[in-house]
Amino acid sequence: MLAAFMKTIFALSALGLLSAGALITVGASKAGPVKATYAESVAGILNKNCVSCHRPGEVAPFSLIGYDNAKKYAAMIASVTKQGVMPPWKAVEGHGEFKDAKRLTAEEIEILGTWAKDEAPRGDAKSEPKAPEFTSAWALGKPDLVLSSKTEITVGPEGPDEYRNFVLENQSSETRYVTAIDCKPGNRKVVHHLVVFVDGSGVAKKRDAADKDGQEGYTTFGGPGFNPVGILGAWAPGYNVRHTPDGTAFELKSGQTMVMQIHYHRSGKTEKDRSELGVYFTKTKPAKIARFGIFVDPTLQITPGEKSFRVTRSFKIPAEMTMYAVMPHMHLLGRVMKVDAKTPDGKAIPLIYIKDWDFNWQMQYEFKKPVVLPAGTVVTVEAVFDNSAANPRNPNSPPKLVTFGEETTDEMFVLLFTQTSALDQPFFEIGSGR
Ligand code: HEC
Repeated sequence: MLAAFMKTIFALSALGLLSAGALITVGASKAGPVKATYAESVAGILNKNCVSCHRPGEVAPFSLIGYDNAKKYAAMIASVTKQGVMPPWKAVEGHGEFKDAKRLTAEEIEILGTWAKDEAPRGDAKSEPKAPEFTSAWALGKPDLVLSSKTEITVGPEGPDEYRNFVLENQSSETRYVTAIDCKPGNRKVVHHLVVFVDGSGVAKKRDAADKDGQEGYTTFGGPGFNPVGILGAWAPGYNVRHTPDGTAFELKSGQTMVMQIHYHRSGKTEKDRSELGVYFTKTKPAKIARFGIFVDPTLQITPGEKSFRVTRSFKIPAEMTMYAVMPHMHLLGRVMKVDAKTPDGKAIPLIYIKDWDFNWQMQYEFKKPVVLPAGTVVTVEAVFDNSAANPRNPNSPPKLVTFGEETTDEMFVLLFTQTSALDQPFFEIGSGR
């Protein structure tokens, strides 16, 4: 029974991530109504927060570089920023502090709204800021190892998004210590994000051999289709690649295989992709091995028709643990996930709060300062699922009982995190009961 659970449990997933750049402040007067022009304020907001994805050839469907493009989409820009849909950053402000938070200020949102309402005035074209330049070089310098699929992949024009897992040839006779991964997407129009899992069981190779769709790699929904012994990181457009904190690194043992999962977002045309994965090693064994931690509830049973199906679970930290990043994971019915820690002496530490979960925008949220949790700390994970017919994302019509599993029509209740601790092994916790 447990073995079966464990298999599905590691239907982890798509830890998309993002970030880039600090927020900018815009000089709008607090007193009077805001007056906004493209040159004075709008261009700066779009350049800082949007054009890393909204530029030619990138994953977003249109460019927001330059006045003409911005003007064309002014009303939509106002609406998606007001709703908090764009830029895609789901962590609620004030509940956990993260690096590279990609969030507009209330003032910036107001500026974009006013600008759209005033029919997108340009202002002084000569003073318009230039769009940032994007380099195609590896941000951290030449990687120690560059890997990719052997063949080019064809991504068809239509249909659901695809999660394709590539078993990479990366054997080494020694244990290696990974401080960073980076990606050079072969085709930015379709590469939405990628995650690098570590397989120590050989299952990924078997899945690969059994998959007969005529293309390299095998497809899954979210999880990698095996029980990973680690996750080396994830990448998405606009992500600021960085090394693990000093004195820490992920371990990649001899015989373990890296499996690169790419989330392909279709573009409406037939596209080709062959993306490159860059891996950075440190020569010396780090003082602490960074590992992943995972909390799941495989007993999840979501009542059909229920709009706010709430699940609250807790787990205890057995030995002092430092958390570096958190990654909530649910499927299509997930709406909310809120995670809080309480130390044995009663101190409350908010970890993350996502009010508007979107399966498409799974991210790894890296803490601004690593969070140290003493032994005995209780972490509480609360989630809300919408299994009503009114949920446009509900994969079942009419709604039906939904249980834990890897398929599109199953759900997940998973919290992943990266951590170092005296446990010296990955941290697994399984919750249960309603
Ligand atoms: C990390 C990449 C990324 C960033 C950063 C980003 N976008 Fe997007 N945007 C996308 C993608 C991908 C889509 C299309 C799919 C989707 O809606 O998720 C999209 C869609 C949109 C849409 C169309 C929505 C619709 O309903 O069709 C608008 C408008 C938009 N973005 C505006 C913005 C603005 C304004 C910003 C900055 C404040 C921004 N985006 C930042 C990736 C991004």
